[in-house]
Amino acid sequence: MSDATQNTSQTGPLRHFLQFRDFSREEIEYVLGRAQLIKDKFKRYQPHHTLHDRTLAMVFEKASTRTRVSFEAGMYQLGGSVIHLTSSNSQLGRSEPIEDTARVVSRMVDLVMIRTFEQTRLERFAAHSRVPVINGLTNEYHPCQILADIFTFMEMRGSIEGKTVAWIGDANNMAYTWLQAAEILGFTLHVSGPKGYQLDPKLTGQVAPHVLREFNDPMEATKGAHLVTTDVWTSMGFEAENEERRLAFNDWCVDAEMMAQAHPDALFMHCLPAHRGEEVTAEVIDGPQSVVWDEAENRMHVQKALMEFLLLGKQ
Ligand code: CP
Repeated sequence: MSDATQNTSQTGPLRHFLQFRDFSREEIEYVLGRAQLIKDKFKRYQPHHTLHDRTLAMVFEKASTRTRVSFEAGMYQLGGSVIHLTSSNSQLGRSEPIEDTARVVSRMVDLVMIRTFEQTRLERFAAHSRVPVINGLTNEYHPCQILADIFTFMEMRGSIEGKTVAWIGDANNMAYTWLQAAEILGFTLHVSGPKGYQLDPKLTGQVAPHVLREFNDPMEATKGAHLVTTDVWTSMGFEAENEERRLAFNDWCVDAEMMAQAHPDALFMHCLPAHRGEEVTAEVIDGPQSVVWDEAENRMHVQKALMEFLLLGKQ
């Protein structure tokens, strides 16, 4: 019997959220709807203790502010508790195999969130886990962030179906996750980044033109977009490339001129942390079209709905 099939704590088959496309459109819509209910109750100070006595283990092999606080506060608000592990405060930092960590941790907790490097490392953990595993960011994907971003868009502008999202900058874990979301939820993704930092066709495969359009010129990519979004020029784990990236990305700064190309009602999002004066100007990120603080807060509401769904199914 595999580690995973020994699981006995689930109401149905063991599910993970390792990348956005692990969920169907209908499941994503359910989680986002449930997040709205959970958020509304939070704002009214109404208790929502659906995960009473459940424990979440959070494993961080990279730094975090938002992911840690949103998962930790969220789990306590659901009536559960949290264990925080890092490479330096656990045996992971002393070369204990990730498979052994998964086997042990998942015998003692109900749910695991991991932030790590390669997606394959996350998949190895999940393959040996008895409980659901959530991707808290890998080099390849950041699905919880995109859940929060889409929730934020829907809160402010309604359905994202048929809309255009412009991704400006590095084709990183956020860009690849936006692409999965566009395919599932039916919107168009415009992507523009400097040569050498664009989407890899070997990873994207064939994508329909109504789902993905790539542009050399970021001003063209932003034209008519309902949402303009970007990220730091150097993601975690790529710090050695800092200087060459600084030169390559010089024209990929979201500024007022770029935002003026977008739809008049366009929103600006950034998953944070941001470097003002690099990938975005202070005028834009601190300006009226920016919704970055709601976007950050919404991490907590959507992840509460996600944890509840993985452990309890639909309510
Ligand atoms: N956006 C995001 O994941 O933030 P942290 O790196 O602070 O967790």
